[in-house]
Amino acid sequence: MKADLYNQPVNRAFFGDNFNWGVSTAAPQIEGALAIDGRGTSIWDVFTKKKGKVLNGDTPDIACEFYERYREDIALIKELNIPNFRFSIAWPRILPNGTGEVNPAGIAYYNRIIDFCLELGIEPWVTIYHWDLPHELELKGGWTNREIVNWFSNYVKICANAFGDRVKHWMVMNEPAVFTGAGYFLGIHAPGRTGIKNFLPAVHHAVLCMAAGGKLLRQLLPGAQIGTTFSCSHIEPYSNKPKDVAAAARADVFFNRIFIEAVSSMGYPEDIKVLSRIKQYMLPGDEHLMNFEFDFIGLQNYTREIVKASLFVPYIGARLVKAQHRNVQLTDMKWEVYPPAIYEVIKKFDAYPFVKKIIITENGSAFPDEVKDGRVDDPLRLKYLQNHINQVLRAKNDGCKVAGYFIWTLTDNFEWAEGYHPRFGIIHIDFKTQKRTIKNSGLWYGKFLAP
Ligand code: NOJ
Repeated sequence: MKADLYNQPVNRAFFGDNFNWGVSTAAPQIEGALAIDGRGTSIWDVFTKKKGKVLNGDTPDIACEFYERYREDIALIKELNIPNFRFSIAWPRILPNGTGEVNPAGIAYYNRIIDFCLELGIEPWVTIYHWDLPHELELKGGWTNREIVNWFSNYVKICANAFGDRVKHWMVMNEPAVFTGAGYFLGIHAPGRTGIKNFLPAVHHAVLCMAAGGKLLRQLLPGAQIGTTFSCSHIEPYSNKPKDVAAAARADVFFNRIFIEAVSSMGYPEDIKVLSRIKQYMLPGDEHLMNFEFDFIGLQNYTREIVKASLFVPYIGARLVKAQHRNVQLTDMKWEVYPPAIYEVIKKFDAYPFVKKIIITENGSAFPDEVKDGRVDDPLRLKYLQNHINQVLRAKNDGCKVAGYFIWTLTDNFEWAEGYHPRFGIIHIDFKTQKRTIKNSGLWYGKFLAP
C-alpha cells in the first residue's frame, strides 16, 4: 500500500511552500567561448584535445553557446516556472592563470547572469568549483599540490566579494569524489592522472579546500546559505555472502563516505587500508583545518550500484556488477533506472548528526531524444523524474531534512568523457543549429511548478 502511494503522479503541494525546486548546470558543459573575453585555459580544454579521451573526439569549445545565449536560456527557465537556477563559475574566466590578475570581463559576465536571474525573479545558486581547474595550476601539480589551498581560497574570496551581495546560496565544490577519482586515479577525466600517489594528495587537498572555502564564505557572507555537493549511490551487495557484503561496505567508502566524513570531524574512514597512507600528506593541525559545518549538503544521485568481492581490483577488492548484465532498465549512460536509490541515499546522509539540511542538487537521466514535428516526446525521462521526485517525498515524509530538488539538467550539453552523446536536458539542443526545443519532460516540470 505504502509503496503504491509513491507511484502516483507527483503533486507539488505535498512538499510544502518552502521546498526549493530548481535546475542545475555547470560552466564547462554549456558555456563554450573558451578563448573569449580573456578566459584562460582549463584542464578540460587541454584534456579533450588529446586523442581518445572523449567519445567521438567531442570538445567543449562550442557546447551550448551559453556564454552568448544565457538570456535565451534563463528566459526558458522562467517560462518553465523554475524558481532556482544552479550554475557554476569558471575559475579560468575569473583568474585566467588561476592566481594573479583578475579578469574584469569574467566578473562582468557572471554579474550579467546573476542580474538577469534576479530581474526575472529566479534565485541564483552558485557552484564555485565544477571541475574546470586553470591549466596553469595543473602545471604546478594541480590538486596534488598543497598550495592549492591558497590558490582556491584566493579564488573563493574574489567570488564572494564580487557576487555575494546578490548570491545567497553557495556550493563550494561539485562532487569531489568524482573529480579526484576519475581525474587523479583512473585518468578518465581531466587532467588524466592515475594512481594512488596522485589520488591521495588530491583527496586531502580537496577536503582542505572545501573546509577553507566554507569558512571564508561564512566569514565574508554571514547571511549566506553555504553548502557543497557530493555524488552518492545506493550500494547493495551482489549476494549476502560475507565477502560480498564486506566488498559493498568498502565500495561505500569511496562512493559515499570519504568526503562527507573527512570534512565533518570524523576523519578519513579507517575501513580501507590504503586510506591510512593519506596521513603522509597531512600536517599538524589539519584535523582542524579539514572541518566545516555546512548549512546544507547537496546530494547528487542517479542510480544504485551492485557490488561483488574481487581479488583483482587493487586497494578496494570490490567490483561493480554492470547494469547491462543485470537485465534492468538502462539510461544512455548505462546506469540502472532505480528510483528507490534516491530515497536510500537521503536516509543515509540524513542519519549523520551534523547534516542540517539536504538539497538534491542533481538528479536526471539521459535518453536518445529526437525532435519530431517540433516536439520531443521523452516519456522515459518524464517517468524517471516523477518516480524520483516521489521517492524524495517518501524520504521527506519519513522526517528526513530534505528541502530541495534540482533536475540535471537544463539543456543537453557536454557530458565530459561521453561528449555530446548522452542527452540529459529537459530542453533539447540541435548542436548543428543551436536550436532549443523544450522536451515533454520540461513542459511537464513547468506545469508541475506553475504557481
Ligand atoms: C554529475 C556532475 O556534477 C555533472 O557535471 C554531470 O554531467 C552529471 N553528474 C551527469 O553525469
